[in-house]
Amino acid sequence: MLNDLKQQPADALLALIKLHNNDPRADKIDLGVGVYKTAEGDTPVFAAIKAAEKKLVEEQDSKAYLGPEGDMGFVEKLMPYVFGKANPTMDGRIEGMQTPGGTGSLRLALAMVKRAGYKRVIVGKPSWPNHNQICADLGLEVVEFNHATAAGADMDAVRGAIASAQEGDAILLHGCCHNPTGIDYTNAEWDEIAGLLAASTILPVLDLAYQGLGQGMEEDAYGLRRVLAAVPEALICYSCDKNFGLYRDRVGALYAMVADPADLAKVMSNGHSLARANWSQPPDHGGAAVRVILEDEALTAQWLAELDEMRERMRGVRARLQAAGKTGGVDLTPVGSQNGLFSIIPFTPEQVQAMRSEHGIYFAASGRINVAGLTTGNIDQFIAAVAAVTA
Ligand code: LMR
Repeated sequence: MLNDLKQQPADALLALIKLHNNDPRADKIDLGVGVYKTAEGDTPVFAAIKAAEKKLVEEQDSKAYLGPEGDMGFVEKLMPYVFGKANPTMDGRIEGMQTPGGTGSLRLALAMVKRAGYKRVIVGKPSWPNHNQICADLGLEVVEFNHATAAGADMDAVRGAIASAQEGDAILLHGCCHNPTGIDYTNAEWDEIAGLLAASTILPVLDLAYQGLGQGMEEDAYGLRRVLAAVPEALICYSCDKNFGLYRDRVGALYAMVADPADLAKVMSNGHSLARANWSQPPDHGGAAVRVILEDEALTAQWLAELDEMRERMRGVRARLQAAGKTGGVDLTPVGSQNGLFSIIPFTPEQVQAMRSEHGIYFAASGRINVAGLTTGNIDQFIAAVAAVTA
């Protein structure tokens, strides 16, 4: 029986880690999987996290189970940052639970969508490949619309997708720092989308995996808050893996917003039972470290300063690529106004291969680059390679 299983391809994004590691060239460049890097090319542990971990080692007196919802102190301390300080529970309509990373949160959210009777999920194209993979694994049909044109987000496509939605449809939207394009909706576009969703029966599922890496913690939450203010129900998938640099510790949260606070316990009990069936309880350490930071004013300020520094460095890289402008056969100008870790450079498949084989520069086959992989030491080399392969 087991030998009837079909060989599955390695995950294309995660496979890039090995491809890059196996390249013996000293001047190779890794623009693959989405991790932040400093100007020196390192992915260090945040100083605020190190300090919180020290505190945890000294003060944590038990590692006994917490339950499927994980560390509710972590879940609740995060809420003012996600939903706004003024009314973080939206008058008792929002509650959350801890999940293993943003992926765990998406898995639970989409499983709840399925359990609630939704049949289809409307997803922009391109999207993070795991979005469609999770839907497929759960037996949810994916309906795609075009995410962006050369000029920015494709509003006609999103209007069309919402207008042609059916009863039983959910929509998966990236809250900020769109992965893989870096092309986010403007605030005016979010205003319009919120209005369109409010007038529809579509359930919004909002994926916020990069808060603080685009324009700022508050700015990056604009669209999510706008949608939540307009609709009766939504699911929110949150990741701390990037904005706290906790990648392998897998730190995320799922929040549900309901119309009537009386339904919240019932809705969340579905998250709890699904978690129990998937991983029982989330790993504790990273979430506990985030909680320790958010409970301490000085550590919170330190974390936010570190996040500001990351964002500013990435804006600097983007400005440098924008200044390069037309480079060989491609235009790097739009990268300057995009957000977060990713942008897509319109390479052909042959050019992606040539960047790897001739220049030792690794990024996804879609042409998605992790701009944080570019440093003062390698950005000129990257621009020269782009000019050479696209000329
Ligand atoms: C990425 O898109 O590179 C990140 O979200 C990491 C991942 O798990 O794919």
